Amino acid sequence: MSTNIIQIGNQERVFVLTGAGISAESGLPTFRDSDGLWSGHRVEDVATPEAWEANPELVWQFYSMRRRDAERCEPNPAHHALAALESQIGERFFLCTQNVDDLHERAGSHNLVHMHGELFSSRCEANCGEPVFSDRNLYESAAQIPACICGAQVRPHIVWFGECPLEMDRIMREIDRCSVMIVVGTSGNVHPAASFVHWARQRNLPATPRVRTYYVGPEPPLNAGAFTEVILGKAGEVLPNLFSVEP
Ligand code: APR
Repeated sequence: MSTNIIQIGNQERVFVLTGAGISAESGLPTFRDSDGLWSGHRVEDVATPEAWEANPELVWQFYSMRRRDAERCEPNPAHHALAALESQIGERFFLCTQNVDDLHERAGSHNLVHMHGELFSSRCEANCGEPVFSDRNLYESAAQIPACICGAQVRPHIVWFGECPLEMDRIMREIDRCSVMIVVGTSGNVHPAASFVHWARQRNLPATPRVRTYYVGPEPPLNAGAFTEVILGKAGEVLPNLFSVEP
């Protein structure tokens, strides 16, 4: 485990990006590790618009299984450490998660966006104008899939491969004004999230303070070379002792 400390000055803004690795110690599988979700399921069968069109029942079975698994989990010390950092620096903290579970909220994080959607929300597949709604139900058969009032089917509020991530304008604004970027538990395979560290570095102009970028996880991600520092270790062990906040 690492003993590195990230100093956060009293004017600094912190941008955090999290991936599946931060929920691993809560018992949720990641996607690309050997026992990950993509080793047991084909992306094309359950996480694309084409999959939904071909077999909505199978897609809902996959997300129902994930709802059931996530319901049983609790936030771990990594989620709590980020919530504690937010309570110390307030609106200078921004959290962007690729995760669709609600463990950050349950740990007490407020200023966050779920760029890949939310497991416990659903919406109309036709985007008819009905709002996204919170939904903890399980749909295991075609007959159980609810219909929107417009008549179309209700789908998971998840960003599938080939769809646009959510809230990108807000995310880019926050990347533009952060001075510290901390990326936790993501393999660096999926863009645009894997590009955030590059976008932050592009702002390193001679006249502006340098953005410091850190990665935390048990192994270096694909984009490891772009970080100021890669801190090897499990999120739940590293994050609780990682920050030193200037009063
Ligand atoms: N602490 C921190 N990191 C961990 C831990 C841990 N305890 N355990 C595993 N990891 C790391 C792995 O080393 C790996 O780099 O978490 C990362 C998980 O990577 P992926 O499975 O690829 O998950 P992620 O990067 O979040 O996937 C991105 O891809 O499938 C889509 O939309 C899905 O949001 C997801 C996106």
